[in-house]
Formats: sequence, C-alpha cells, structure tokens
Amino acid sequence: MVPHPRDPVPDPSEARDLLLNGETKAGAWLRPIVYLGRNPISLTGAVLTTSSAFTIVTFWVFEIVLGGGASRYPYGGILFYLILPGIFVVGLLLMPAGALWRRYRLLKRGELPHFYPRADFRHPMVRRAAGLIGFATIANVLIFTTASYQGVQYMDSVSFCGTTCHTVMQPEYSAYLNSPHSRVACVECHIGPGASWFVRSKLSGTEQVFAVLFDTYPRPIPSPVTSLRPARETCEQCHWPQRFGGNILLVKNHYDSDEANTSESTVLLMKVGGVDARGPAGIHGHHLAAGVQIHYIAIDAQRQVIPWVSYTDASGKTTIFRSNAIKATQQQLDQGQHRLMDCMDCHNRPTHTFQLPADGLDQAIQQHYISTDLPYIKREALAALQASYPSRQVARERIAQALENFYKTQYPQIASGKSAELAQAIQTVEGIYSRNVFPEMHVTWGTYPDDLGHTNWPGCFRCHDGSHVAAGGESIPNDCSTCHDILAMSEHNPKVLTEIGMQ
Ligand code: HEC
Ligand code: HEC
Ligand code: HEC
Ligand code: HEC
Ligand code: HEC
Repeated sequence: MVPHPRDPVPDPSEARDLLLNGETKAGAWLRPIVYLGRNPISLTGAVLTTSSAFTIVTFWVFEIVLGGGASRYPYGGILFYLILPGIFVVGLLLMPAGALWRRYRLLKRGELPHFYPRADFRHPMVRRAAGLIGFATIANVLIFTTASYQGVQYMDSVSFCGTTCHTVMQPEYSAYLNSPHSRVACVECHIGPGASWFVRSKLSGTEQVFAVLFDTYPRPIPSPVTSLRPARETCEQCHWPQRFGGNILLVKNHYDSDEANTSESTVLLMKVGGVDARGPAGIHGHHLAAGVQIHYIAIDAQRQVIPWVSYTDASGKTTIFRSNAIKATQQQLDQGQHRLMDCMDCHNRPTHTFQLPADGLDQAIQQHYISTDLPYIKREALAALQASYPSRQVARERIAQALENFYKTQYPQIASGKSAELAQAIQTVEGIYSRNVFPEMHVTWGTYPDDLGHTNWPGCFRCHDGSHVAAGGESIPNDCSTCHDILAMSEHNPKVLTEIGMQ
C-alpha cells in the first residue's frame, strides 16, 4: 500500500514569493483552475457551454428582432428552451467535474504538485485568460438565469402542454380550443399559484414524459383526474361563486330530424345564486357558501354512482342522505372515493367540453354553419357522425360520401342548386367529428361524462334524483323548479323569447 498522499500544504515562503513577484490574490486563486482545468472533460464542457450559449444568445436576438416565434413551433421550443439550455448546464457541470477528476487522478498517483505552477500575471496571455474566465462566469450566470426562467415559462405555455405530445393531448387540446377557456393557459387550472404545486406538477410531468417515451400512457386518459388540485384554489383565482350571480337565462336550441329540420327551444332561468344578505341562495350558494360542506362517496371510478351524501349547512347542522335506489354494501362505501364537493363536481368539463353528435350539430345549425335549407340534414348528419370508422381520415371521406350520395340520389336539385351550402355542411360535420373522436386515444362520443345538467348523463341527478333520503324522511330536493324555472320546454318559437325581444 502506498501511503495516502496528503493535500499540498501552502508554504509561507511561497506566499511571500508570490507577493514579491507581483502576483495578485486572484492570480494565486487562478493557479489550480488553470492547472487542473487542462483535461479533456473540462475542455469538452467549455466547448459545449460556449457553443450552446452562443446559439442561445443568437436565438434570443432573433426572437427580439422577429418578435418571438419559436414557441409557435413545438419542437423549436423544445430545442431552444429545453435541450440547448440543458446542454449549456451539462457543459457548466463538466468543467469543475473534469478538474476534480484530474485532481483525484493526480492525487491517487501521488503526482499532485505541492504548488500549482504559477500563472504569471505579468504575462498578457494569462491576464487575458483570467479576464475571459471572469467575463464568462458573469455571462454564464446571466444566461443560466434567463434560460431557466424562459424554460419554465415555455413549459407553462399552452403550446408546450397542448401540442408537444401531439397524439396524447390532441383530444383535450381540441376540446379546449372550442371552449370558453381557450384563452386561459393550461397551467392556470392544472397547476395554479404557489411553489408546492409547481414542484409537484414538474415531478408528475417527468413521469408523464417517460410514459410518452415508453408508450405506457393510458388510452383514454382517465377522468376524473384524481390528482387535480382542489378546484377552488384554481378556479377561484378568476371566479368567485360566493358573489351573488342571480338568475341566468339559458336558451337551448335543438333541431328535429324531420325534413325541415324544425327548431325547438327550451328556455331555462337558472337559479345560479351565490350569497346574498339573507345567506346562501341558489345553486352556487347551497353548495359553496362559507360553512357549507357537502361530502359524498362515489363507488365507481368516474364518480357517477353516489349512494351516500353528507350535508353541513351554513349553521353547522349535518344531515346524512342515503340512496334507496343504489344498494351499496358497507365495504363498497368504505372503499369508494370520499370527496368534498367543489366546482369540479358540476363543472367537470369547464374547458375539455367534448360534445355529443346531436349537440354538436344543434350548435352548428344554430350558428348557421349548417343550413336548414338542406332537407333532413340533421337526421343524415347525425347518422353519418354516429357510424363507426377505423380512422379519422376514413371518417372524413365517408362522411362526405354519405352526405353527397344522399342529396345526389334523394334531392338532385338541392345537390346542384345548393352545392355551396352542402359543401359547407359537410366540412362542418367533418369538423364536429374531428373535434370529438380520437380513435388513437380511444376517445369517442361520450367517453367523458359531463356532470353539469341531467339530460345526457346523471349529472345533478346523481344526488338530486329524489331517492337520496335522510333519517327524518326529507330528501335532496328534485322538484323541477329547484334549480331552474322552465320558461319554455321544446317549443317551436317560444312566446317568452318573443316577449323579451330575443326573437
Ligand atoms: C379552465 C380550466 C382548465 C384549463 C384552461 C385546462 N384544463 Fe385540462 N382539465 C381541467 C379540469 C377541471 C380537468 C378534470 C376533469 C375531471 O377530473 O373530470 C381537466 C382534465 C384534463 C386532462 C385529463 C383528461 C380529461 O379530459 O379529463 C388532460 C389530459 C388535460 N386536462 C389537459 C389540458 C391541456 C393540455 C390544457 C391546455 C391546452 C388544459 N388541460 C387546459 C381544467 C382545465
Ligand atoms: C385565468 C382565469 C380563469 C380561470 C383560472 C378559470 N376561468 Fe372560467 N372563465 C374565465 C373567463 C375569462 C371566462 C369567460 C369566457 C368568455 O365569456 O368568453 C370564463 C368562463 C367560465 C364559465 C362560463 C362558461 C360559459 O359557457 O359561458 C364557467 C362555468 C367557468 N368559467 C368555470 C370555471 C371553472 C370550473 C374553473 C376551474 C376549473 C375556471 N373557470 C377557471 C377565466 C378563468
Ligand atoms: C352544484 C353544482 C355547481 C357547483 C358546485 C358550481 N357550479 Fe358554477 N354553475 C352551476 C350551474 C348549474 C350554472 C349555470 C350555468 C349553466 O347551467 O350553464 C353555473 C354557472 C357558473 C358560471 C357562469 C356564471 C355566469 O354568470 O355566466 C361560472 C363562472 C361558474 N359557475 C363558476 C363556478 C366555480 C368557479 C365553482 C367552484 C368554486 C362553481 N361554479 C361551482 C353549477 C355549479
Ligand atoms: C354530490 C351530491 C350533489 C350533486 C352532484 C349536486 N347537488 Fe345540489 N345539493 C346537494 C345537497 C346535499 C343539497 C342540500 C339539500 C338540502 O337543502 O337539504 C343540495 C342543494 C341544492 C340546491 C338548493 C335546494 C334548496 O334547498 O332550495 C340547489 C338549487 C342545487 N342543489 C342544485 C344543484 C345542481 C344544479 C346540480 C348539478 C349541476 C347539483 N345540485 C348537484 C347535493 C348535490
Ligand atoms: C338539481 C337541479 C336540477 C333539477 C332538480 C332539475 N334540473 Fe333540469 N337542468 C339542470 C341543469 C344544471 C341543467 C343544464 C343547464 C345547462 O345545460 O347548462 C338542466 C337542463 C334541463 C333541460 C334542458 C336540456 C337541454 O339541453 O335542452 C331541461 C328540459 C330540463 N333541465 C328539465 C328539467 C325537468 C323537467 C326537471 C324536473 C323533472 C328538472 N329539469 C329538474 C338542473 C336541474
């Protein structure tokens, strides 16, 4: 065994010698850096850092001159905001790592000099080298902080979240673009303010990157999202349900499957409420006012089956409601999902609003993208949308064929006389399909239930079905006027709309 070599001990005479020769403190400090830095690892690090720094800075100049644009190209963003800064940091780390490694090797071989050869500061080259190292260090700190700030901003951008992993996020991204929140960034709802959720999201994000790389992600992405941040911490950054919202008039237009595509409207006065001088009022107030707490147990993964509900009102009184329609065992209740009700239990599709085929068509007809001058267009388009197709491409082709054939054979004069309307209708129907059906992600009509309402899914009636009864016999109210006044129900040109000047 060779005796373990000791670290060099500074020699006082050497120190005096330094000063005698006019070497500054900085010069002394520079000695080990210059000596140990001469190794392939550190040099590679220096090359990586310098070249990536150069590219990054050039890119910034372009961004400033051209007014931003890289983030418009998803992979450009990844390259400039994540990969290049990554290389830059790896280079930075390699430099000291190489020096330490060289020191370790020399130490092991007993070749570490007692005194690092001096860097003679009177020599202009050494002075320049020192200046360069100092300048590079300051520049690197600046580049590093700017790049990490930009990297975080980029990872929080809609284009990164929505389009980078194209196939995976395509359903959510498409539905998002077609929603009231299409100008709200993904991270406003999925991360929200504060550091702890930021860190959590980056950790789970890393997991997701691996899931995409190794193709182990679930199809469809399951909902509800069990790790979603409690909605009140995110939604309430912008909306405040305790604020009294009064009543909202909702007009729901539907179109029949007859030749004329007859319109019918339902007019509802939604009692949104909130909190007023007398306390909780309406829909928002009764579930969300200060002090009110509704807990429930769902016994299925999608939270559609709710046999047990507990209600604590604003005065602190708690009532337990049990469903006499759903027979759940104690074991099912114990193992079910226990949840405190929040925005998500009604607005579970605030932005990923997938449509059902009939609703998509009704909306398009109402907005005149599909003309009611095309006989039976509602019926035919609905049939075309509901058929099953192997891929989105085939779907588009067959939807077009089906509608063209129908009018060519049944209404030849329409096919030729209203060909522009027909073409626009076909394009719109294809669009409805493309926004809602994603075979690669196993997302099809109705994959994601919408809990706001009760016509297509149980929604409010998961609890308000009249079968949830308390020990005293009272039930969660389900009278039709509990939540809305029905001003018109499936009427053609309802009188109420004429009266208030809406028709
Ligand atoms: C207005 C708030 C909001 C915005 C903005 C938003 N999301 Fe969501 N997202 C939600 C909520 C709420 C859920 C959970 C739905 C549930 O649990 O049933 C969700 C669920 C999801 C899911 C799970 C699958 C599903 O449909 O339930 C994915 C994936 C997703 N969001 C991606 C995105 C992406 C990508 C963006 C940006 C392009 C985005 N979200 C923007 C609120 C939002
Ligand atoms: C960053 C701000 C922001 C956040 C966070 C946010 N919203 Fe919104 N929300 C808006 C804006 C802005 C509108 C109005 C859009 C419009 O009218 O075009 C809106 C509209 C709505 C509407 C009315 C939709 C309609 O059809 O008119 C509902 C409901 C809603 N948000 C629910 C939610 C829920 C639930 C969450 C939490 C998951 C949430 N919002 C998070 C900004 C936000
Ligand atoms: C018990 C179910 C329920 C809960 C819980 C709930 N909402 Fe609502 N909310 C409704 C209904 C119903 C409407 C009426 C609009 C409609 O039906 O489209 C509405 C309307 C809204 C609107 C639109 C108001 C307007 O003036 O246009 C916003 C915004 C909104 N809710 C946000 C929230 C937020 C944020 C939360 C959570 C803090 C929340 N809601 C919790 C059922 C609920
Ligand atoms: C998880 C169960 C649950 C769901 C889902 C739910 N509610 Fe409720 N709701 C309750 C409970 C519990 C009460 C309080 C019952 C009472 O007053 O005794 C309540 C009360 C109400 C009230 C006040 C009734 C009154 O006393 O005048 C309204 C309005 C209401 N809910 C509307 C809605 C709407 C609209 C939806 C769907 C968008 C909905 N609720 C979904 C559990 C639920
Ligand atoms: C617990 C609250 C609640 C109760 C009770 C309730 N509804 Fe509703 N209803 C809603 C909500 C929420 C919507 C959806 C509004 C929207 O689409 O934004 C709705 C929508 C509707 C629609 C419109 C559907 C459409 O798309 O055209 C009709 C019709 C309707 N309700 C009828 C009734 C009738 C009839 C009853 C009594 C049997 C009833 N509702 C009881 C909350 C309720």
